[in-house]
Amino acid sequence: MSKKKPLPEIPIEADIESLTHDGRGLTHVEGKAVFVHGALPGERVRFRYTRLQKRYDEATVTEVLVAAPDRVAPRCPHFGVCGGCSLQHLDPGAQIGMKQEILKDVLTRIGKVAPETWLTPLAAGHWGYRRKARLGAKWVQKRGRVLVGFRERSASFIADLTRCETLHPTVGERIPAISDLLQNLSIRDQIPQVEVAMGDGPCVLIFRVLAAPSASDLGLFQAFAEAQGLHVYLQEGGPETIRPLPGQGVELGFDLPAHGVHLDFLPTDFTQVNLELNRLMVDQALDLLEVQQEDRVLDLFCGLGNFTLPLARRAGQVLGVEGDAGLVDRARANARRNAIANAEFLTADLYRDPAASGGTAPWGAGVFDKALLDPPRSGAWEVLDLLPAAGVRRLVYVSCYPSTLARDADRLVNGLGYRLVAAGAMDMFPQTAHVESMALFELPRRRG
Ligand SMILES: C[S@@+](CC[C@H](N)C(=O)[O-])C[C@H]1O[C@@H](n2cnc3c(N)ncnc32)[C@H](O)[C@@H]1O
Repeated sequence: MSKKKPLPEIPIEADIESLTHDGRGLTHVEGKAVFVHGALPGERVRFRYTRLQKRYDEATVTEVLVAAPDRVAPRCPHFGVCGGCSLQHLDPGAQIGMKQEILKDVLTRIGKVAPETWLTPLAAGHWGYRRKARLGAKWVQKRGRVLVGFRERSASFIADLTRCETLHPTVGERIPAISDLLQNLSIRDQIPQVEVAMGDGPCVLIFRVLAAPSASDLGLFQAFAEAQGLHVYLQEGGPETIRPLPGQGVELGFDLPAHGVHLDFLPTDFTQVNLELNRLMVDQALDLLEVQQEDRVLDLFCGLGNFTLPLARRAGQVLGVEGDAGLVDRARANARRNAIANAEFLTADLYRDPAASGGTAPWGAGVFDKALLDPPRSGAWEVLDLLPAAGVRRLVYVSCYPSTLARDADRLVNGLGYRLVAAGAMDMFPQTAHVESMALFELPRRRG
């Protein structure tokens, strides 16, 4: 059996060349790449190795010898240990600049495309923005405490948090209260997860319980909910078992005021985590699409109608397509609630090979002028070739993963003849290296 190479103990000094896509500083030691946590480009640092790999090594900063001008003091005492954030040591303005550079890099390298115009990156508040989250919980006998938080950066342990600066303060300031609650339960070692869901109003916490709570546990949950002004739901099995405690059920929802739209959702539904940024994102998408009253617009991966209903306020007709039947139900109910009659919804698996259904689009023989695509991380490859035939000339692509956007941009531009008119990053997750972006494509009219 090969023995693991021991980590060098002496700290190494190095100059940091650039930032990796996950927010680590890159340097080279004797030609080998080293990814250094906590280091920024332009800095001279001392670091210690944390992991040796065949093609690259990993390390963490022990001392910053020459700091980058955009280095700032991390706001959170848990930064560096907690895996929830990776960029708190970088000025927020520089963070979004870095995200725009990552987008530029992948579009060039993977997509072999360049936008005709760069959009100014979209950014909103940098702290307390997160309204959806899944926190881990663990009773740790040795400490005599229940830890509640995100996983540690470099281990699978739950970080021992006293607060979280990126969670909305309603939850971020109540981590110790949640921990105290769990600690006092008879099933304190049977609750591995707490899910957070909130819109503009109330906040729901869903406690995953692996054993039935006792009557006294239920009393403690109720007392906690009342004292903290939070709404407690329990989940005993799969998502279908999620139930509010008596009197705790609440309607979640958020407004898109520029479009006169209010969207209701269930606690486990997909919603954008950063509502402030979401509002800017929806506005920008609609402006880029230049929706006219006579337009027929296709909204693929539409969820509960976040873009569909604002689109319907401006367009003649909108069709939203989504794979999750529950979200489609919510989208239809949201259309009714907002008295929107020109939006239809269809449940379809957009990743199913269209050849399996005779080579036609899952949305049928519809003819559309414009489209909005907002796929998950895996992108929208499977639907791209169907867009020109559906009549789509103007297309806004909202992406949560730059590499798949770049791959799809290559197909749209170099394969299908669209122009990449504009692109830009969006800071949906400040303090993390997560990059969201938006791109506008247009199909030039053929000269007849
Ligand atoms: C990034 S979310 C966007 C949702 C919505 N546009 C919004 O802004 O809230 C991606 C959506 O794609 C849906 N989805 C994932 N896989 C799918 C598939 N194979 N077919 C159709 N929709 C899918 C998810 O359920 C989710 O609602």
